[in-house]
Amino acid sequence: MKIVMLGAPGAGKGTQAEKIAEQYKLPHISTGDIFRKNIKEGTELGREAKSYMDAGRLVPDELTVRMLLDRVGNEDCREGYILDGFPRTIPQAEALDAELTKRGEGIDYAIDVEVPDDNIVNRMSGRRACPNCGATYHLEFIPTRKEGICDECGTELVIRDDDKPETVKKRLAVYHEQTQPLIDYYKNKKVLYTVDGTADVDDVFDAVKNILK
Ligand code: AP5
Ligand code: MG
Repeated sequence: MKIVMLGAPGAGKGTQAEKIAEQYKLPHISTGDIFRKNIKEGTELGREAKSYMDAGRLVPDELTVRMLLDRVGNEDCREGYILDGFPRTIPQAEALDAELTKRGEGIDYAIDVEVPDDNIVNRMSGRRACPNCGATYHLEFIPTRKEGICDECGTELVIRDDDKPETVKKRLAVYHEQTQPLIDYYKNKKVLYTVDGTADVDDVFDAVKNILK
């Protein structure tokens, strides 16, 4: 089963992808997480990606596509995967499809998590992320048991560099311009499903499970 998560920055793609990964035993592949890991480790890829990410812009397709195709070629992806934050442009979607077509495969579900822009800035300002295991929380909506500490691994949580309000606004603009067209792209391929991302996390997940069964 191959799933693509669509939605604006902060819509809850990562939150839902994590739950799907656990329930269906599929790898959760977030291009944003891979870039952040590379930044943390000081790799060449991380250095290249950081300037774009901090500005709220997209990392160039060439770099992103190469990294993603390499990742989905891994052994753990044979039964499928959940892509979170990829594709984000039409050329990225076309590159992925070209590769899948070669293997006689395709995307089974593109799930669009819908949240209006007004809610997004609010969500981002409360987001806290674990720099070690990638778990995501929210000060108000998804609090940790112990303030500022990851429930999963006990690491101190951080605020993402690109969650400043000005950067969030830029990311939203980039989303509308470059990523939203993917909704029609997957609608045309007859694999598009939509969920209301403003509901509680568990209700959104129930809607997702209904789609996947
Ligand atoms: P990426 O890491 O993918 O960021 P994003 O798409 O902007 O999405 P977010 O991770 O911010 O949001 P999310 O939808 O995962 O929401 P979350 O679950 O955390 O990308 C970062 C950057 O990397 C990009 O800007 C770009 O520069 C680069 N990049 C990445 N992929 C790329 C690509 N393919 N091409 C080019 N560049 C690329 O939830 C948000 C908050 O809300 C959390 O605090 C969460 O706890 C809370 N929350 C979640 N669900 C709910 C709910 N139902 N109710 C209340 N609160 C909720
Ligand atoms: Mg995310």
